[in-house]
Amino acid sequence: MKKKVVVCITGASGVIYAKRLLEVLKNNVNVSLIISNSAKKIITEELNIDWRELKKLADNYYENNDFFSPLASGSNKFYAVVVIPCSMKTLSAIANGYSSNLIVRVCDIALKERRKLILLPREMPLNSIHLENMLKLSNLGAIIMPPCPAFYYKPKNLDDIINFIVGRILDILEIENNLFKRWNKEEG
Ligand SMILES: Cc1cc2nc3c(=O)[nH]c(=O)nc-3n(C[C@H](O)[C@H](O)[C@H](O)COP(=O)(O)O)c2cc1C
Repeated sequence: MKKKVVVCITGASGVIYAKRLLEVLKNNVNVSLIISNSAKKIITEELNIDWRELKKLADNYYENNDFFSPLASGSNKFYAVVVIPCSMKTLSAIANGYSSNLIVRVCDIALKERRKLILLPREMPLNSIHLENMLKLSNLGAIIMPPCPAFYYKPKNLDDIINFIVGRILDILEIENNLFKRWNKEEG
């Protein structure tokens, strides 16, 4: 049976990472998708597409206010949640258990059920509130993956950079991939 992964897109810059992740996960795992209202507008702004285009890449789509969705209950099993990108607002809500929407609720479930929670927070610079929230969540077992590209593999274009970030997420999801060139200087 395919792994079930919940992908949440929130209103931070870098929604292109979410688009690429959805493209790569398609046919690999079963994807449930939630997109916040702010993210819907940023998808249009940054990608020049309607957010519904991303819906087509998922197996299931749920509105962020749909607490009657299967995702709202811990009894519904999933393998992992990825919040990509993760706004500082959503980060704060997750860190404080303030489940006023489905995205935060599903992250809350991942924490309480000890399932994989992967967050790609996007802000710069970071203030102490952001840092404290990240530390709190890391201590609770969440995996904090700010989308910071590496340059040791000499990326040639934006696709190379995006694939590096998405490939590292796939590593954490334990999905084999060759999306980026791994560091193997010793092996030549
Ligand atoms: C174009 C644009 C870019 C934004 N980028 C960020 C960002 O990188 N990080 C962030 O924390 N908030 C960013 N925001 C602000 C959030 O969208 C805002 O705080 C929103 O309330 C987040 O809600 P959500 O987490 O429910 O999506 C951005 C807003 C806009 C319009």
